[in-house]
Amino acid sequence: MAVKAVVFDAYGTLFDVRSVAASCEATFPSRGDALTGLWRVKQFEYTWLLSLMGGYEDFQSVTGRALRFSCRSLGLSLDKRAEARLMGEYLKLEPFPEVSSALQALSGYRLAMLSNGSPDMLRAVVEHAGLSDVFEQVISVDELRVYKPSPKVYRLACRKLGLRAGDIGFVSSNSFDVVGAKRFGLKVFWVNRSGAPLDELDATPDAVLNSLADLVTAL
Ligand code: 2OP
Repeated sequence: MAVKAVVFDAYGTLFDVRSVAASCEATFPSRGDALTGLWRVKQFEYTWLLSLMGGYEDFQSVTGRALRFSCRSLGLSLDKRAEARLMGEYLKLEPFPEVSSALQALSGYRLAMLSNGSPDMLRAVVEHAGLSDVFEQVISVDELRVYKPSPKVYRLACRKLGLRAGDIGFVSSNSFDVVGAKRFGLKVFWVNRSGAPLDELDATPDAVLNSLADLVTAL
């Protein structure tokens, strides 16, 4: 499976969104898990709905809308300060523990990121994690104004890197992203830390990993 570049998804793959959960629990004691789960689901749903409707708002806006819906749905009173605090968590997510060593082990490959995140969100979280010098490119869907798993997103990575689909190894923890990238034709490595089932959408990743530590041997 010789690839020329390794391209990473951001949220849940490189960056651990569990710190958002801790902030949700601190803000709404005993409701943190319910809020975190619904917020993440609605965040993705809104990207899919907007893309299907031919609309677009950047990921910062979509994430805010999903948060406000989730709080309203759960009967939680979200004031502006709490909203700003929770939204701010996305700008300072910690990388998973194995990320630094895994990326170092891949130093022989061209490395990039491909994410729904807005350019500002990605710049902030990459800088906070000290990864600014690691990636040749940090590619946001924002210039396309359409979200994953649109094939346009994975085609953008090929265009930006000047590579054919089969020359790119794509790494994601998110099943819908794995399916989209595989159906487009990338070589796909699913980081399935939670042991989640893969969606039934006729796409099988080239490898399933427990963490990024397994990536260099899988490539
Ligand atoms: C991404 O970073 C949302 O994890 C997804 O594109």
